[in-house]
Amino acid sequence: MFEATVDRATTADRIADLAARHEEVTQAAEKRARDRQHAKHKLTARERIDLLLDADSFVEIDEFARHRCTDFGMDRSRPFGDGVVTGHGTVDGRPVCVFSQDFTVFGGSMGETFGRKVLKVMELAMSIGCPVVGINDSGGARIQEGVESLAYYAELGRLNTHASGVVPQLSMIMGPCAGGAVYSPAITDFTVMVDGSSHMFVTGPDVVQAVSGERPGLEELGGPATNGEVSGNAHYVASDEEDAFSWVRTLLGYLPANNLEAPPAYEPEEPAASDEELDRLVPDSENQAYDMYELIERIVDDGEFLEAHGRFAPNMICAFARIEGSTVGVVANQPQRLAGVIDIDASEKAARFVRFCDAFNIPLLTLADVPGYLPSVAQERSGIIRRGAKLIYAYAEATVPKVTVVVRKAYGGGYAVMGSKHLGADVNIAWPTAEIAVMGARGAAAILHRKQLGEADDEQRDALHERLTAEYAEAFANPYRAAERGHVDMVVQPSRTRFHVARALRMLRTKRQSLPAKKHGNMPL
Ligand code: HXC
Repeated sequence: MFEATVDRATTADRIADLAARHEEVTQAAEKRARDRQHAKHKLTARERIDLLLDADSFVEIDEFARHRCTDFGMDRSRPFGDGVVTGHGTVDGRPVCVFSQDFTVFGGSMGETFGRKVLKVMELAMSIGCPVVGINDSGGARIQEGVESLAYYAELGRLNTHASGVVPQLSMIMGPCAGGAVYSPAITDFTVMVDGSSHMFVTGPDVVQAVSGERPGLEELGGPATNGEVSGNAHYVASDEEDAFSWVRTLLGYLPANNLEAPPAYEPEEPAASDEELDRLVPDSENQAYDMYELIERIVDDGEFLEAHGRFAPNMICAFARIEGSTVGVVANQPQRLAGVIDIDASEKAARFVRFCDAFNIPLLTLADVPGYLPSVAQERSGIIRRGAKLIYAYAEATVPKVTVVVRKAYGGGYAVMGSKHLGADVNIAWPTAEIAVMGARGAAAILHRKQLGEADDEQRDALHERLTAEYAEAFANPYRAAERGHVDMVVQPSRTRFHVARALRMLRTKRQSLPAKKHGNMPL
């Protein structure tokens, strides 16, 4: 434990004492932390802050904070900082608040002083209106401090909730994150994990075994693959810590500092007059897929976008990009995965993304090619009604500019939910390849003409079905029925898409819309 060695009689002594204390925090303790963390191929709390922030921009607060617990011999160990480094700095010159848990001090566990420090820096972020990044590497509630630890987890959840929709909140999981500690990241907007070194679970393998008898592996229970692909708790799985910080810095570049600001705008790029490749993107056969990423690349500035939840529900794409220098949130079906169908995971993924964009003044660009909601017993039993409704709710309550392009299929519920006019989209564009109908032509013909098909001779049935399908397709599988009624505003040549989307977003910059005043809605959860 640090002991003051200087006699504090003179001003010079007092200054020397301050230097010694500061040296203990930033040099001696950091050396001990480095030895322990590097042995596990992990960085220290301070090294992580250095990777996140612009060089020399970090301003630490509460570096001399110490716990006041006396139980279990804790009074013999009172390290400065109490296991968490907090403060503020800049990312690309824009302010960001940060807390970084230090696993080498009491396992980065949360006690009273630790909790107060984290709450204090979050309150600072809320009052100055800047994003807060939480770097997690912790054994959870500090066992020696009992209820105090639990109290601060609950306080953290309360503050995360109050900050939600006010400032962007990002969580980085760089080691263990277990027990109640997982719920703070879960409330924040984006969570990043690191391959090979981070885990997230409510109950660890020992407890699972005690309760259920099964002994899951650490990776299976809460590794990055589980959280990034199956449960969807992680929005990005980084290959290493550097990659994690690079992703977070890039993400921050798309976001406004708070809900009262517009996202940062960069020098606008001239919309290209046309991109002939897009005229060949949609295959002639409706059963053939194409890659929606290609369409996104061809519409957005420099072909660049940052995807969130890339490994989770890949049939739905959610990404940040820029058009004419300003951020847009892209929501798109991916026909290459499950034919772009909307299942529970896709609905929840996109709904949360739409709500984030709406909270932070980010216009939405929806690219639709969707055969509908996924028909399945398992999906019905898991609540696709209630959970599929979230996407409708999210689009309907979003008041940011909403531009939709119907690329190919927009069938049934899929048509309605993917940024349709009826949910409040401002500009609806269709390609000539769009098919806006209750369902695909073949299925529709089978239902409409069930009797006629049933009575047909076996050898004639297929030919009849083909003819009826073609008739239905001719009548409905096109964008013009919707265009006749104003459900789409324009049908455009695919090669001109970026031009039309950019013009629509430019026109909508001054859009203001208010919904009926209320305490809050009751989204189906
Ligand atoms: C105090 C802790 C601690 C904790 C770890 N340490 N977790 N100290 N409280 N929660 C200390 C250890 O005593 C050890 O101290 C040092 O940190 C490193 O821990 P190790 O176990 O040696 O590290 P490792 O082998 O890497 O294992 C990491 C671990 C394990 C998997 C996280 O430490 C662990 O299982 N910890 C307990 C996790 C837990 O059950 N937390 C409570 C969850 S309940 P020394 O001095 O030896 O270096 C909860 C409820 C919140 O969080 C509810 C809110 C609503």
